[in-house]
Amino acid sequence: MSALQDLIPVVNKLQDIVSNANLTDLDLPLLTVIGSQSAGKSSVLENIVGRDFLPRGTGIVTRRPLILQLINIDSGDLSVKVNAGIETDEDPNQRTLEEHLLKADSANSNLAPKEWGEFLHLPGKRFYNFENIKHEIERETARIAGKNKGISRVPINLKVYSSHVLDLTLVDLPGLTKIPIGDQPTDIERQIKNLVLEYVSKPNSIILAVTPANIDLVNSEALKLARQVDPQGRRTIGILSKIDLMDHGTNALDILTGKVYPLKLGFIGVVNRSQQDISTSKSLEDSLASERDFFISHPAYRNVASHCGTTYLARTLNRTLMNHIRDRLPDIKAKLNTLIGQTEQELASYGECDNVTQENRGALILQLMNRFSTGFIDSIEGNSSEMST
Ligand code: GDP
Ligand code: NA
Ligand code: MG
Repeated sequence: MSALQDLIPVVNKLQDIVSNANLTDLDLPLLTVIGSQSAGKSSVLENIVGRDFLPRGTGIVTRRPLILQLINIDSGDLSVKVNAGIETDEDPNQRTLEEHLLKADSANSNLAPKEWGEFLHLPGKRFYNFENIKHEIERETARIAGKNKGISRVPINLKVYSSHVLDLTLVDLPGLTKIPIGDQPTDIERQIKNLVLEYVSKPNSIILAVTPANIDLVNSEALKLARQVDPQGRRTIGILSKIDLMDHGTNALDILTGKVYPLKLGFIGVVNRSQQDISTSKSLEDSLASERDFFISHPAYRNVASHCGTTYLARTLNRTLMNHIRDRLPDIKAKLNTLIGQTEQELASYGECDNVTQENRGALILQLMNRFSTGFIDSIEGNSSEMST
């Protein structure tokens, strides 16, 4: 029987089918990260994943939506899953001694907490080196959005498998900007805003509005845009970054405790790596430890420290996404059934000996959608009343 924890993986599979088949009508639950350039969006995502994998630089770096599916794998499963004759980005000659030993061991041990990424546009290829993931995002961005500063609405889909992540599906979007820089088109502000709106206006999107704590909340581009599509603040989570950079003698306690700006899902404060931390290659592990220390030892945050920081954020996002998917299941199922009907009609219209590959593809999608609709979703819907959150 299906459990609540299976919801996110199931919706991830649907997400892939939808992306592959260009079925934009099926609006699936997603956590959408928005904020102005340099607000800290990439830093928040990397902290959640626990790895450096996002392209960085000045100006506009994220130029296509990145749909990031985090998939928690039990470290016990890994020995079976690793190296099952799958293409990887590893050069065997470049492996460290430690990795050689891990590899030799992996058949009969559950050591090897391996993590890897896989792109939807490169099926079956595993990236064990997160630096290569970064390069592939850059390459794939340039392939569709060009080498200049243009943006594209076509998403890049990346899965990250790790025993250190919680199941989450997040979308990273270009940063909201006011002024075109370099050779950006003059209407770049409008282009980016429209792209962001495309994601956040969907009722199934939970908005992660990233705002630096060292600016006035009323100037937050993220909150302004979120308010346009979610005026009652029902599906917006405020993420307050750069808490360490606030003016001496000021603090964000009133914002974090919901006294300043009303959001049903609240605000969570985080401290990411500074530019200097990145330049000196401070590890994400150390960064999480300093973040914890910061909140625990700060006189203003000491009492709310358990509700601050990246670890709490990741747990909250996982729970929020799960509850949201559960609430939207009847709607998803209805839409899926409509799509199944449409696909059936389309298939019938191909006739007997028309385009065979197109037909096979259509039939496969249909089969998959049917499986989700009649199998998984039914059993979860049937059970959900008995489940606690
Ligand atoms: P993005 O443009 O929204 O993706 O922003 P980035 O995550 O790339 O961050 C922009 C800059 O702000 C980088 O130099 C980060 O190191 C820095 N930064 C982000 N978050 C924090 C934070 O919480 N504290 C400090 N001190 N620096 C931060
Ligand atoms: Na902002
Ligand atoms: Mg960024």
